[in-house]
Amino acid sequence: MSAQKREGSVLSVASECVPLVKTGGLADVVGALPGALAPEGWEVRTLLPSYRGLVERLDGARDVWAAPDLFGGPARIVAGSVGSAEFYLLDAPHLFDRTGGPYSVAGSDHPDNPERFAALSWAAASIAAKGDADGWRPDVLHAHDWQAGLAPAYLSWAFPGTGVGTILTIHNIAFQGIAPAAKLMRLRLPSTQFHPGALEYWGNISSLKAGLITADRVTTVSPTYAEELRRPAFGMGLEGVIADRGTSLSGILNGIDTTAWNPATDSAVTPYSATSMAGKAENRKLLAAEFGLGPDSGPLAIVVSRLSHQKGMDILVDALPGFVAGGGTLALLGSGDSDLEAALSTLAARFPGKVGVRIGYDEDLSHRMFAGGDAVIVPSRFEPCGLTQLYGLRYGTIPVVALTGGLADTVIGATPASLGAAAATGITFHPVDRLALTRALDQLLHLYADKPVWKALQKRAMKADFGWGRAARAYADLYASVAAE
Ligand code: ADP
Ligand code: GLC
Repeated sequence: MSAQKREGSVLSVASECVPLVKTGGLADVVGALPGALAPEGWEVRTLLPSYRGLVERLDGARDVWAAPDLFGGPARIVAGSVGSAEFYLLDAPHLFDRTGGPYSVAGSDHPDNPERFAALSWAAASIAAKGDADGWRPDVLHAHDWQAGLAPAYLSWAFPGTGVGTILTIHNIAFQGIAPAAKLMRLRLPSTQFHPGALEYWGNISSLKAGLITADRVTTVSPTYAEELRRPAFGMGLEGVIADRGTSLSGILNGIDTTAWNPATDSAVTPYSATSMAGKAENRKLLAAEFGLGPDSGPLAIVVSRLSHQKGMDILVDALPGFVAGGGTLALLGSGDSDLEAALSTLAARFPGKVGVRIGYDEDLSHRMFAGGDAVIVPSRFEPCGLTQLYGLRYGTIPVVALTGGLADTVIGATPASLGAAAATGITFHPVDRLALTRALDQLLHLYADKPVWKALQKRAMKADFGWGRAARAYADLYASVAAE
């Protein structure tokens, strides 16, 4: 496909996007789409809430849409660019100009989250239906997660017959945007849609379900998660709705930004590559020193993660003493649930020189960790895609992952057969419990001790291709099919 080919335009709607605002992988993926889809002929503009201070970061800012009263106050959309990416920021100070993170402040959700993200979704539907002040109008509306779940619903119910195709991507079904039924009118939702076949969910409103029901197509971020979602253990109550979508739900595996995550050019670290690994040893030394880890003979494992039940960090806490006894060390960077933060900090105090823990969020440090670590542990109970195992592969930092979702789709676990066939790229375990993780960490200790096998594993991991090319083609095909309907 030639770079000049113009297939159409997309309004991508989300609550976070690099480089403006990030709490997790959603931001990486939404941020990668415009650059990945441009060579496929699709122009992607991204609509985000204008959280405090964001609007000042746009170049060429201009007002392109206004509403005198959007869920309790005036709002406008400011269009502009950051680098080569085109953004629409929904500036509604009564909803977004406040302290705290995108979703919460001091550990509690913003109480008006239903209104905040309904506003984002309404603005998206309005632009899709009527265009902006410059006359730009998308062929496709691409909504991400529950925060944009009402966008396809508003487009169907409040602006019918526009001809704009809609896609909802589920990055994590555990978050569904539940609001009390009493907010129905306030959220501009038709009471005729308040039934189990539409947006009602156990007596409440579910923004994600509204999107799931109304979007032309639904995607999620790995083929295995697409299958898992049909089962009660993963569908979180929406498995029936998912099953009803049949083949209009598919899994498209995320890519990673192979420019930002490239050990040969990463400015945060000493460069290295699969054919010249000396830099990695240097990075390892610096990382051990940075985390106060003492001399060791075993593998230096890393974790870079939100600290939540999803991520299985409690299981890691249980399995770690055995790993340390076997000669392993751990450097962990994360933030999240206060009980997990406390348990991990206690572990670090119990094993000085063996376990180092940083509570916080630090992008630069995360690069140094992937470059300096021997292995990255991802013991998630469920993982729609997961990005850190992909960064691990790229940096020759062997992933030790639970066999679920995108982790199962991206890591080939070491077994006698897969090692014999020169196919293994990591270590996988199942089920997600202390015993299975302990076995996986034992396997890590053994594989690391066998230098020729370990080096071959690293080389293979570093050759795995998880760039955006394949995913971009899959999204382009989907955009083309919904735009044509
Ligand atoms: P999720 O989105 O569920 O948190 P992903 O693996 O898809 O999981 O994405 C997490 C992203 O956030 C990755 O880019 C990871 O490197 C980054 N990340 C998570 N925690 C931290 C942290 N404490 N500091 C820096 N980066 C982090
Ligand atoms: C969600 C998922 C994660 C996925 C990310 C990007 O945060 O938890 O597995 O990688 O979205 O799609």
